[in-house]
Amino acid sequence: MLDVNLCGVKMRNPTMLAAGVLGITASSLNRVYHHGAGAVVTKSFSLEPNMGYKNPTIVEVPYGLINAMGLSNPGVESFKEELYKIEDRIPVVASIYGSSPSEFVKVALEVQGLVDMIELNISCPHAMEGYGATIGQDPQLTFKVVEAVKEACKVPVAAKLTPNVTDIKEIALKAEEAGCDAITLINSLGPAMKIDLKTGKPILSNKFGGLSGPAIKPIAIRCVYEVYETVDVPLIGVGGITDYKDVVEFLYAGASAIQIGSAIFYHGLGIFKKVCDDLKAFMKREGFKSINKMVGLAHG
Ligand SMILES: Cc1cc2nc3c(=O)[nH]c(=O)nc-3n(C[C@H](O)[C@H](O)[C@H](O)COP(=O)(O)O)c2cc1C
Repeated sequence: MLDVNLCGVKMRNPTMLAAGVLGITASSLNRVYHHGAGAVVTKSFSLEPNMGYKNPTIVEVPYGLINAMGLSNPGVESFKEELYKIEDRIPVVASIYGSSPSEFVKVALEVQGLVDMIELNISCPHAMEGYGATIGQDPQLTFKVVEAVKEACKVPVAAKLTPNVTDIKEIALKAEEAGCDAITLINSLGPAMKIDLKTGKPILSNKFGGLSGPAIKPIAIRCVYEVYETVDVPLIGVGGITDYKDVVEFLYAGASAIQIGSAIFYHGLGIFKKVCDDLKAFMKREGFKSINKMVGLAHG
């Protein structure tokens, strides 16, 4: 009843671990799957190791979190060791980033044999200049990165977009035109900031970070809704999901699958099973036989 087929990847339910949350080791990715997720997305990684920003890198605000990890990761060579250790039956999405189309391609080619799908992080709001949202805010750059990875890769490719643009439809169209198989919406919103009243200074070492959690859900829903009316590829919804009602809203807006990130900090990994159980009960109550039947119901 809950199973979905996302670009040929069979998932037992539509929930996925969002990139960057617990996705750095095979053991944590295996654990997330054992707690009920339908698929797992790794933390974003790059060709070379990246130390990221100094602590503090994350701060809580009402209805959300602001994080500026700075895309810290051990680099693709080391990350591959973890990918080898992920259990075979688990659908795995590798989140990758780079500073140029050729860098994205190099990372994608290193890992494509070890994963089911690749998610291009062209949307991080606190990445170093030349990375992250600086790519996803530019339609031409978005096109070039997606096109290059699609030409080189055999596995399905999802482009993860930033809401920090004037018109997300324009970027989504470019990603689709370049051949992406799916679009993930949205990365964290920002840059955002919190100031410590005791010190009078910004809390995060990077000063600015990306806002996630329930505060951004209405914006994520709007992005999914708008992009659903613009492209034909399947959408993966993410941003502020904490319970099955949020999932239903994302499905109605047009998402075929969803990801959960910040809510894990508050509710633990049990959230995956809880969301799936409650979603199944909702579908029975409302007479839905499959997830597909719910996708895009808010339109028309
Ligand atoms: C601590 C933290 C680290 C994150 N790291 C990444 C990352 O490495 N790559 C990425 O594409 N998104 C990253 N994100 C963004 C999430 O994948 C997600 O798009 C965003 O947080 C909205 O979903 P949520 O409200 O469920 O957290 C991160 C979010 C958080 C909170």
